[in-house]
Amino acid sequence: MEGHAVAENQDIRSVLQEDRIFEPPAEFDSRIGGALVGSMEQYRSMHERSLEDPEGFWGEIASEFHWFKPWEKVVEWSAPDCRWFDGGTTNISWNCLERQIEAGHGADVALIWEGEPVGPNGPEIIELTYEQLLKQTCRLANGLKSIGVGRGDVVTIYMGMVPELAIAMLACARIGAVHSIIFGGFSAHAIADRVDDARSKVVLTCDGGWRRGSVVPLKDNVDAACEMTSHIEKVVMLRRCGNQVQLDADRDIDWHDLVSGQDDACECEHMESEDMLFLLYTSGSTGKPKGIVHTTGGYMVHTATTARYVFNLVPGRNQVYWCTADIGWVTGHSYIVYGLLPNRVPTLMYEGAPNFPEEDRFWDIVQRHKVTQFYTAPTAIRAFMKWGDEHPAKHDLSSLCVLGTVGEPINPEAWMWYHKVIGAERCPIVDTWWQTETGGHMITPLPGATPTVPGSCTLPFLGIDAAIVNDKGEEQPPNIGGLLVIRKPWPSMLRGIYGDRERFIETYWSRVKGMYTAGDGARRDDRGYFWIMGRIDDVINVSGHRLGTMEVESALVSHEYVVEAAVVGMPHEIKGTGIAAFCTLGPDIEADDQLRDLLRRHVAEEIGAIAKPDMIRFTAALPKTRSGKIMRRLLRDIASGNETTQDTTTLEDFTVLAKLREQDE
Ligand code: WTA
Repeated sequence: MEGHAVAENQDIRSVLQEDRIFEPPAEFDSRIGGALVGSMEQYRSMHERSLEDPEGFWGEIASEFHWFKPWEKVVEWSAPDCRWFDGGTTNISWNCLERQIEAGHGADVALIWEGEPVGPNGPEIIELTYEQLLKQTCRLANGLKSIGVGRGDVVTIYMGMVPELAIAMLACARIGAVHSIIFGGFSAHAIADRVDDARSKVVLTCDGGWRRGSVVPLKDNVDAACEMTSHIEKVVMLRRCGNQVQLDADRDIDWHDLVSGQDDACECEHMESEDMLFLLYTSGSTGKPKGIVHTTGGYMVHTATTARYVFNLVPGRNQVYWCTADIGWVTGHSYIVYGLLPNRVPTLMYEGAPNFPEEDRFWDIVQRHKVTQFYTAPTAIRAFMKWGDEHPAKHDLSSLCVLGTVGEPINPEAWMWYHKVIGAERCPIVDTWWQTETGGHMITPLPGATPTVPGSCTLPFLGIDAAIVNDKGEEQPPNIGGLLVIRKPWPSMLRGIYGDRERFIETYWSRVKGMYTAGDGARRDDRGYFWIMGRIDDVINVSGHRLGTMEVESALVSHEYVVEAAVVGMPHEIKGTGIAAFCTLGPDIEADDQLRDLLRRHVAEEIGAIAKPDMIRFTAALPKTRSGKIMRRLLRDIASGNETTQDTTTLEDFTVLAKLREQDE
């Protein structure tokens, strides 16, 4: 990998000048039950204690959960390996469901679901109480057992945003099966790769998924994946869209047939705290996505605790929490399902697009369901800004109390718009920095305590020892960029990359000894607030979705016309980062717009539509150093239209640069 300078794409001056501070408002206190952490003094003393005495701090919190057998030790740590609540046994499904029912809240609403299509009587809405959710979970759990799924088996889930997706997660967790959820926007190739890597024999899917009024052919994609891997033995399909699908009598099972007639009680497996709960594939610096391993006890405690403090979740106060992420990403895992249900605040799940049937759909949902906490991504906020203020203005958003953002750095303009237009200048914004690997929030404001500054994710969460260091692990002075690291273990940290110990160590633990390197560049300001400056590896953040540039390059060169490809990020108004691809072609291949379209479609087939390049430039050769490395930094400058100030003395062929610049797409 080329040595990237930290945050080379970022204009540091603009963020250094940011001096607007927003104190936490007092108003939200009474409406959602008072701030759980109400002042900076309280935050600081809690944070200090959590670092000095992690065993006491996390042990006390964990004892509020249900354990079949108590743990022997809160944490064991020998970098890079940690064990949390070792010796204890529990089940996260129990803590999401029975825990509420046993406390007398079985009839409370656990999950609210809204479908995308809008009929004459409005959209379809389903509300499930903890009791109903438990019964459905048990039926599916028994159904899965009946087809031979058991403890430790990996179940691949490729579904739309339907209640059964959450039910599938809870059912797997209940019987000790490991789920591996694949975002519905990924292609058949992507499914097959992940199924192969995890040796998963069972896939749960839907006939289709609703997206902006069209049907995403989920089952067709699974069928195509089955042709590419020999691992899949059973496919369970939920009918949602009524689209035409092929059914294979030996392999495919109708979801309804699997669950009907099943007992609605199913004992929870007693899971070891360190038993695997799920795998979630994410992009890294190489072409191959990595299966991030999360385990049971620590993940359960961390996600529920962060959800509680960061969104100020207080049960019994008519709160309705809505996270707009897809469950196919970690945000949906942690902050739609697992972190929410243990807090006994209803979690809202919306099936479809933000602009269907109109651009005001989200605000219509907020108004109708009286959403109190709203959590979305900067890319969505930028799209709302573009669509115009008239859409939120049509709706009563006065129920909102806390606004969240996640997935990529939020530009101050988007932050201010969110604050003014959506939050009416009274809702604190929690800008939460975390990753698939961290499992839960790491650096974030607490809404009743932390003064916020547009663009900064502010301060570490309780128990988190985050720092900015140089390659030697020495802390950087204020306002000097460096590597974002975490120096102490936290409960929901990744336990590994599935089946690849070496890559785990190489990726996260080799750059600075004994510290978790996040892969982000960042700085702290004079106040100690963190500012994320962007990835320092070959990962780009497209609309808040993580993609490896190498993945897109491999997809491009897998096309017979492409000889070589280099992919870099470029600024994009809505997506934050767009994808720029530079390709050299085989002899006699005509470089035209038709070929661009063809290659875009090819990438969508190989990875998924989210990976389609926004710009493709053809070139006779790629700029390389004398040692043959592609000069990505230079390509980034070209893609973003910057005048190149980089040292180009090692460039092999200066004319390449000039030629690339000449091309207008
Ligand atoms: C970026 C998503 C700035 C960051 C939860 C990180 C952010 C990557 C923020 C992880 C934020 C996430 N501010 N950057 N609040 N949140 N990121 O694994 O680069 O999909 O490393 O997890 O997103 O993306 P992932």
